[in-house]
Amino acid sequence: MNGYKASDHTAKAGVLVLAAGKGTRMHSSLPKVLHPILDKPMIWYLLNTLNRIFSAKSMVIGGHGFDQLKSVLQAWDPILIHQKQQLGTGHALQVAWPAAQKMDIDWLVVINGDTPLIRDMHIQMLLEYVQKKDADIGFISLTLPDPGSYGRVLRGTDGEPEAVVEAKDFRASGRHEAEINEVNSGLYVFKTASLEKILFQLDADNQQKEYYITQLIALGLKEGLKIVAFNAGNCPELLGINTSGELLRQEELVRAKIVDGFIEQGVLIRAGDSVRIGAEVEIGPGAEITGPAEIFGRSTIVSECSIDSHCYIEDSFIDKAQVFSFSHIVKSVIGKNVKIGPFARLRPGAEFHEGASAGNFVEIKNSTVGPGSKVNHLSYIGDTLMGGSVNIGAGTITCNYDGRCKHKTIIEDRVFIGSNTALVAPVRVQKEAMIGAGSTITRDVSPGCLSIARSRQKDLEGKNPLKTHKKE
Ligand code: UD1
Ligand code: CA
Repeated sequence: MNGYKASDHTAKAGVLVLAAGKGTRMHSSLPKVLHPILDKPMIWYLLNTLNRIFSAKSMVIGGHGFDQLKSVLQAWDPILIHQKQQLGTGHALQVAWPAAQKMDIDWLVVINGDTPLIRDMHIQMLLEYVQKKDADIGFISLTLPDPGSYGRVLRGTDGEPEAVVEAKDFRASGRHEAEINEVNSGLYVFKTASLEKILFQLDADNQQKEYYITQLIALGLKEGLKIVAFNAGNCPELLGINTSGELLRQEELVRAKIVDGFIEQGVLIRAGDSVRIGAEVEIGPGAEITGPAEIFGRSTIVSECSIDSHCYIEDSFIDKAQVFSFSHIVKSVIGKNVKIGPFARLRPGAEFHEGASAGNFVEIKNSTVGPGSKVNHLSYIGDTLMGGSVNIGAGTITCNYDGRCKHKTIIEDRVFIGSNTALVAPVRVQKEAMIGAGSTITRDVSPGCLSIARSRQKDLEGKNPLKTHKKE
């Protein structure tokens, strides 16, 4: 299939995603299609693909966890259909039929929502194949060494498909179908005019007492419809996700593809097997990343930036900067020549200007750190506006929360804050001021002055209880 050239066979075609099932084998209350692959629910990948291919809105049929599905799908605004009782894949198609009829389509593509890695070319190719053959029904089949619980494809003497038999049914009857390696992938194309004739003939006369979409093959044959199956071999992207093991296997496919793609573009990714990068991340060629690492959301890593091992980055912009090991960065902006970590935690709204730094055991939230300013050791800076060339001593804390409200701290250019200072917000330290170590600052500090707010040292002669004092 690799040589396939996409051309537009999607005119007059609509698409339906089957996503109402419970996903019993996932052992989770979350609807199956919302289980994440890297940082996105699995259905995200499928709907992005469908949005690229089809001009008409996609139809999605939900059921189990319908409200959760609805809120996740908002961004795509599909035609969402509710299958209140999940009576099988064929029943799902029956429930969606009125919505499909309202669309001006001659072809209906139906896809299992638990097969999220299907590519544009698989769908385009199947549509082209069915249309060229002037068939009524077409589906993609796979040939698997271990066909497990997949529906087996039975072909007649003319080589065309005659039926798809579900694993539970032939297992129950001990029939020979178990030995068949050709299986149904769950990607179908129907000529809508032909589908109408057979869709409501489905019955639930099987082991699972469900209405199977796959019964349409045998029903179609009886009605004299033309049915074709395109064999895609052992294509890993067309495998379904029914268990956590299968989810992890598909996730690994996506992960490796993304990492390899960046390596090809010239990003230096060391220990790449342990690097997880989300599908929306952008990384410039020449950037260096060492695994294990996770970079998710809408993050941008600029060329020549380096990220050492064990970092987590989400929804952040990182310019040509150095991020040392074990740093956790969320919704933050990091400018040129900034140094972060090791062991730094940047929470939403942290913004570092050129040449600034945050060292070990430093937490920064909703704060701007001006150019060249340093917060290098053991500090908490929250809700703070910091100018340039500021030095924050070890152990400095901005006390930004009074139990009810958050307050701002302003630290102006070239201020020097001594170690172990508490800045009780709201407070402003004006430019070039210096704070003595150990101070608790509760009032604004004037420009250029030295401010000390701690009790004086007393040296008490003869009071050291561990020492015996002899009279001279
Ligand atoms: C299905 C096919 C099987 C095929 C396999 C490929 C049927 C009967 N069997 O089996 O031939 O080899 O996919 O992966 O179709 N769903 C609904 N409503 C329902 C039931 C299911 O929307 O009432 C959805 C599920 O959410 C899922 C999809 O349909 O996304 C497939 O259902 P699933 O139960 O996973 O079918 P399989 O047993 O995998
Ligand atoms: Ca499945």
